[in-house]
Amino acid sequence: MQHVFRSLILMTCGLALSVTISFAQSPRWTIGMSQCNLGEPWRVQMNADVKKAALGHPELRVIFKDAQNDNLRQSAHVGEFVRQKVDLIIISPKEAAPLTKPVADAYRNGIPVIVLDRRVVGSEYTCFIGADNKKIGRAAGKWVVNQLGGKGKIVELKGLMTSTPGQDRHSGFRDGIAGSGISVVFEADMKWLEPNARREMESALARFPNITLVYAHNDPGAHGAYLAAKAAGREKQITFVGIDGLPQEGQMYVKQGILSASFEYPTGGREAINTALDILKGKKVQKEVTLPSRVFTRGNIDKGGDWLKE
Ligand code: FRU
Repeated sequence: MQHVFRSLILMTCGLALSVTISFAQSPRWTIGMSQCNLGEPWRVQMNADVKKAALGHPELRVIFKDAQNDNLRQSAHVGEFVRQKVDLIIISPKEAAPLTKPVADAYRNGIPVIVLDRRVVGSEYTCFIGADNKKIGRAAGKWVVNQLGGKGKIVELKGLMTSTPGQDRHSGFRDGIAGSGISVVFEADMKWLEPNARREMESALARFPNITLVYAHNDPGAHGAYLAAKAAGREKQITFVGIDGLPQEGQMYVKQGILSASFEYPTGGREAINTALDILKGKKVQKEVTLPSRVFTRGNIDKGGDWLKE
């Protein structure tokens, strides 16, 4: 009997020990990261940047969910995070309108929400982090005016126009070329996707014999247009400009001579984790964090691009 009693005590001690150890090791805060899709290199990079930044903080655990480009699935993911009672949500939403309510619901439930890269409607979230897409679009427009000597027939391949970067990269660009002799002869929404951009460019090439430049709202779009032009034997007559500027994508295309310029769109993954930590520690953060951006061209790529100025 005494023996049984002693082993019970030992077992209890062992249990207590293991509980303590697992407490010491378990992260203090859980972050839910809702990604709209992982089909494009830029989004894979965003998740990698979040993961890398979080790895330096054992007090954080990040749960990643991929909505596979589906608004409903992404709304459900945000709802699941709320029910799980995560400590904070980071979301990079697919489209503004459909993700507004789930984000607002989480925020009203007392869960801090960081909106990353694409916006939602209104201001029911804790903080927005992203680069200034209007400024990038305007800089691209001015660069194009300069590059083409103020005139030319161009194609604009737009990102998903129900997402805010698509809207801002479009309006900023139009501001940038305003007053010049440049005309946009063909525009289409390629929804951020390279195969769509390639198809749209095939139509543009069939209709217009004198295209001088393609402005695409992202580098996959610019690359898709390049492939279409190459297949038609017209890639040498056309200048290609894109946005994102990832080292393994846009910057590489510039080095290879495929793109003439790529404008950087930082993922904000590291900044999201730093801001999340501030929020979780009870610090007050800015409602809006604007990330800087560079332009990479054949002339400046070897020195790491040039920062955009206003
Ligand atoms: C990836 C992407 C990027 C683009 C960003 C805009 O899904 O299309 O190429 O810069 O989203 O939100």
